Amino acid sequence: MVSTKKRIAILGSTGSIGTQALEVIAAHAHAFEVEVLTAQHNAKLLIEQAIRYQPNAVVIGNEQLYGEVKEALSGQDIKVYAGENALASVVQMDTIDLVLTALVGYAGLKPTIKAIEAGKNIALANKETLVVAGELVTQLAREKGVNIYPIDSEHSAIFQCMVGEFHNKIEKIILTASGGPFLGRKKNEIQSVRKEQALKHPNWSMGAKITIDSASLMNKGLEVIEAKWLFGLKPGQVEVVVHPQSIIHSLVQFEDGSIKAQLGLPDMRLPIQFALTYPDRYPSAFPRFDFAQYPTLTFGKPDTETFRNLALAYEALHRGGNMPCILNAANEVAVAEFLKDRVGFLEMSDIVEQCLAKIHYIKSPSYEDYVNTDKETRLKAIELVK
Ligand SMILES: NC(=O)c1ccc[n+]([C@@H]2O[C@H](COP(=O)([O-])OP(=O)(O)OC[C@H]3O[C@@H](n4cnc5c(N)ncnc54)[C@H](OP(=O)(O)O)[C@@H]3O)[C@@H](O)[C@H]2O)c1
Repeated sequence: MVSTKKRIAILGSTGSIGTQALEVIAAHAHAFEVEVLTAQHNAKLLIEQAIRYQPNAVVIGNEQLYGEVKEALSGQDIKVYAGENALASVVQMDTIDLVLTALVGYAGLKPTIKAIEAGKNIALANKETLVVAGELVTQLAREKGVNIYPIDSEHSAIFQCMVGEFHNKIEKIILTASGGPFLGRKKNEIQSVRKEQALKHPNWSMGAKITIDSASLMNKGLEVIEAKWLFGLKPGQVEVVVHPQSIIHSLVQFEDGSIKAQLGLPDMRLPIQFALTYPDRYPSAFPRFDFAQYPTLTFGKPDTETFRNLALAYEALHRGGNMPCILNAANEVAVAEFLKDRVGFLEMSDIVEQCLAKIHYIKSPSYEDYVNTDKETRLKAIELVK
């Protein structure tokens, strides 16, 4: 009998988004089947997930862990692969209907491109893919007739507001930002903050990299670039408003001035589920929003003098070409070094700014140009750290 279930590959199944995606799938086992699971280092959790969800294949990124995973799954009917190339080829398997990209950083670019080349629809959490090479990726998706369903809560909010409106022109979109743990503070108050403070997000529990990006407002900058490509907008059509309660996930303003918003408690399972079930909505047991608990929803302007990353991201977006790729690579290095206590919180923006100034500009980059830009920028950023 032919299965009518949607067959899903989850890249980065051991992370914050990956584990929540598996929760959603488990709650709707009649509708979804797990086809592929992947992790980078966390062999233990990958093995547990594989035994529970019985995918066709798993990939462990770190090749040194291949033996451990292979041995643990030796009694199961599950193929085991290792390494970056395996990740890029497994997404092309005939049995996959949709690839959910929940891995973190630049590593998402190649497997996402390979999946699109093979005609797979994408549920995209890995925003860095569109930041690095938004033009190339969205152009390829159009050519292949592939849909990219957003998982980022802000972009899912916009997407949900657009249902029934895809033929209508967007005047602008307004991305909401919680402001992170240092909202309202000035430079002198945050220059010596440590990773322990930056990792405490007020509203969301997420992986380390995105949590630091949220504290530095780089996450919002990356989301502005992601939104530009997802919704085919001009940079000037993407606005950011600070909304500390994270209840309104984002808003769309149409040509007639009408604004639509999507609201809910901060819970990533909802946008993950919508990306998997679109155009349908499935029932859920997620906690419901209660207006009485939130008598006040507030809004403000982002402080881009203190949190310069947002301004740098807009600058990279306006300049275009390989500038967002430079921004992303420099930021990935800066965040990794901040997490190792090797650079200060505000120095992360200095590293990004200097890389944007020093790496050579390419107006219309090819895939190879992006790969080289990423490499060159990482070397420069590391040099700046030293
Ligand atoms: N978390 C959220 O609430 C949230 C919200 C919106 C958007 N996003 C976006 O979703 C993506 C994932 O975020 P996350 O918070 O779920 O991250 P995370 O918790 O750090 O998980 C990352 C996942 O990717 C794997 N991974 C790490 N480095 C890799 C590499 N070089 N190659 C292949 N796989 C690798 C990890 O494997 P190991 O576990 O083995 O290391 C893990 O499965 C990011 O792009 C983020 O911006 C996240």
